[in-house]
Amino acid sequence: MALSLKQAVRKTAMQAMLMRERFESGHAYNPVAYRNTQNPYPAYAALRERGQAHRSRLMNAWIFGRYEDVAAILPDWQRFSSDGRKAKRPGKRTVIPDPGTPSLLSLDPPDHRRLRGLVSKAFTPRAVNALEPHIRSLMHELLDGIDDLSGFDLMEVVAKPLPVIVIAEMLGVPVEDRPRFRSWSDRRARILEPTIAPEERADAIRAGADLDAYFAPLIEERRADPQEDILSGLVQAEEEGDRLDEAEMIALLRLLLVAGNETTVNLIGNGMLALLKHPEQLQRLRDDPSLVPSAVEELLRYDSPVQLDLRRIVEDCDVNGFPVKRGEDIVMLIGGANRDPEQFGDPDGLDVGRDQGSHISFGRGIHACIGAPLARLEARIAIEVLLERFSSIRLADPPARFRPSIVLRGLESLPVAAEA
Ligand code: HEM
Repeated sequence: MALSLKQAVRKTAMQAMLMRERFESGHAYNPVAYRNTQNPYPAYAALRERGQAHRSRLMNAWIFGRYEDVAAILPDWQRFSSDGRKAKRPGKRTVIPDPGTPSLLSLDPPDHRRLRGLVSKAFTPRAVNALEPHIRSLMHELLDGIDDLSGFDLMEVVAKPLPVIVIAEMLGVPVEDRPRFRSWSDRRARILEPTIAPEERADAIRAGADLDAYFAPLIEERRADPQEDILSGLVQAEEEGDRLDEAEMIALLRLLLVAGNETTVNLIGNGMLALLKHPEQLQRLRDDPSLVPSAVEELLRYDSPVQLDLRRIVEDCDVNGFPVKRGEDIVMLIGGANRDPEQFGDPDGLDVGRDQGSHISFGRGIHACIGAPLARLEARIAIEVLLERFSSIRLADPPARFRPSIVLRGLESLPVAAEA
């Protein structure tokens, strides 16, 4: 396919940066190379083995990929902030996206604490586990809709619809609008990708604005007629005065919709792909369904839906002895830390009964994923119901392919064949 002039210029600039990187450090890491988007783990292993940190010219950041370092950076918000406005160097190319109105993910305390407190109740394990019967029946309905068991796309049938229906219901946005907000949410999520082209960044920003405009009339409806949903809870908090303003409320709703959507889609998709590629592990789950919760943890470790996380260094300091400077950015290889042999025995193997080491796929510290109990529950139910409904399920053609994203790792499609 012929490249446009803009694409050709971008490609040449990228190659020049990679050459410079190789010249400076003896190694170049290109996360967007096709082989790395399909299987990033050999490149992570190479980086881990070369040293504690690698200077990426492409991302203009330090890359840390050892478990011990990622686990130290994640919770240390005083030195490694998620707020890209902090210690900003004018004119410097940065990987930290500008979210517009900042929300949980990009704020430090005390604002972070204030906003997180407003929604945390809805996501406690207790609140979320109460949804189990409902999510299970949704899962059955989705499988009832399959026309032909001899060939269907598990992404379209289960992985994509389930999380979006659940989060829409929890927030209180009409589920029938889901084709619209799923598209906005998918396009908006691209803002997290540090290597996208300016046109795609502009599109992600537009999708965010469309989501905001979509929420505005719903907020007015809830003001007039409160319901039992997160939207009504936030409207009430806003009306009480100093707890949040309308822009913050909209940013929070948008974050929950986007964060609660694509990540869980990919946990179900990547997780089922891993199981289908390891039929002996799938059989272990059939033989002993009590292993499903530990399988979900192992799938989160084995092929994490969130592969990279970003921070701004706010003071000259060190990461376990490696010196770093204020104003520089850090890229953490979550997927790399999850495969660190110093932390996990046989890290590239899939073991649904693994009971050693804890993955880092939901982050750590103040920003640790608020939706983790929900994601775990949806993945567990999806696997349980698939095993219950199908006496066999296997990969079909064409082979599953990963999308070219480097932060949110997920499949384009997952063709399978099953028998009832
Ligand atoms: C398998 C699915 C999921 C994965 C792998 C995942 C991963 C993560 C990670 C790594 C973080 C920390 C980011 C950081 O420290 O910079 C995070 C934060 C967050 N996640 Fe998730 N997530 C998932 C599902 C969900 C769901 C279902 C929701 C909500 C419904 C959600 C909402 C959030 C929110 C709001 C934050 C920001 C929390 C804060 O900054 O205090 N996530 N997630």
